[in-house]
Amino acid sequence: MGKIASRVSQLNGEGALAVNVRARELERQGRSIIHLELGEPDFHPAAPVVDALREAAAAGRDRYCATRGIMPLREAVAEYLGRTRRLPVTPQEVLIAPGCKMALSLAMMALIEPGDEILYPDPSFPIYPSFTRGLGAVPVPFHLIEKNRFQPDLAEIAARITPRTRMIIFNSPNNPTGTVYTKEVLAGIARLAVQHDLWVISDEIYARILFSGAYGSIRALAGMAERTVIIDGFSKSFAMTGWRLGYAVAPVEVIDAMDLLVLNTFTCAAEFTQVAAVEALRDSTGAVEAMVGEYRRRRDLFVAGLNRVPGFRCVSPEGAFYAWVNIEDTGLSAEKVATLLLEEGGVAGIAGAAFGAEGAKYLRFSLVSASHLLEEALARIERVSAHWRAAVTR
Ligand SMILES: Cc1ncc(COP(=O)(O)O)c(C=O)c1O
Repeated sequence: MGKIASRVSQLNGEGALAVNVRARELERQGRSIIHLELGEPDFHPAAPVVDALREAAAAGRDRYCATRGIMPLREAVAEYLGRTRRLPVTPQEVLIAPGCKMALSLAMMALIEPGDEILYPDPSFPIYPSFTRGLGAVPVPFHLIEKNRFQPDLAEIAARITPRTRMIIFNSPNNPTGTVYTKEVLAGIARLAVQHDLWVISDEIYARILFSGAYGSIRALAGMAERTVIIDGFSKSFAMTGWRLGYAVAPVEVIDAMDLLVLNTFTCAAEFTQVAAVEALRDSTGAVEAMVGEYRRRRDLFVAGLNRVPGFRCVSPEGAFYAWVNIEDTGLSAEKVATLLLEEGGVAGIAGAAFGAEGAKYLRFSLVSASHLLEEALARIERVSAHWRAAVTR
């Protein structure tokens, strides 16, 4: 066989998927598993959205369509961001892609040169450093630490900027910590971006899953609309993970560049999904608010319960649907705790190193199972942790 291109060796996988494979294997052996490893909502899209999809497919909306997305959806995204995020956006600044990840990689391909340095948070979504390396660029982490309530340290970011720095990527609310960047942090990042002429990719996929207050996007700040790419999509806010639908909002020149990449790769996102996505954005049944209410109840229940487990410590997340748990005081490694919880307790979570070196003493649990399952997971975690405590003190 011929050689695989070297860029592939620069990429990493996603820890959640590997844990999911093992959890499913245990299930096949008859074990009961509570799945808290994947970032996949346990909800499904609202009925009018599914109806719209069915109607669109039946009406023959199953052909190639506009590479940057159908105009009604681009208009709906612009209107939605105005309504929910107070952002003035034109449809010309919107590009539809099959998933937020695809929108992210198109933006990165359009804006990053080999050798560029790209600032990103550690811990965060593992694809940011992975795809950066895949493009021949250099990922440069800034750290989200518990002492700062996982807010970035602006002085640290400033100190890491060099003449090669091209871009800052971040995600607020952040996967896995649930941190919503403060106004001061956003203003500080914007100041640095303007001062050093940097691109900013603002991954806003969890912007709607916010437990208090209104979302503030960095794009709204002075001088930022011309240098920001917002990445968002339908997977999380509208529970449409498998539909593969996301979008980017960027200056028109960037959208043009991304459009050419679309033409050279996947051609377009499926039209019938785009037609139905207009209905999702309309949200006529109030599905988003209902889901966020449920995530809030789960967060309150699960975080309080985890904080009662000896050796576990969890700061309550302000957004997204993850619990980020410090397990340092158990005296065990995060990998060991994750393995014990899965193999002995049937609770699947992820060791935090999957999200960056800063995550080495943490576990991530997704709040994507119903409250009664979270209660059962807590009972199992307490039971398994009592075993290892007994073993340590023996
Ligand atoms: C921060 C972040 N960005 C992007 C994605 C991927 O979104 P999509 O399913 O739309 O590709 C995820 C999914 O876990 C995520 O956590």
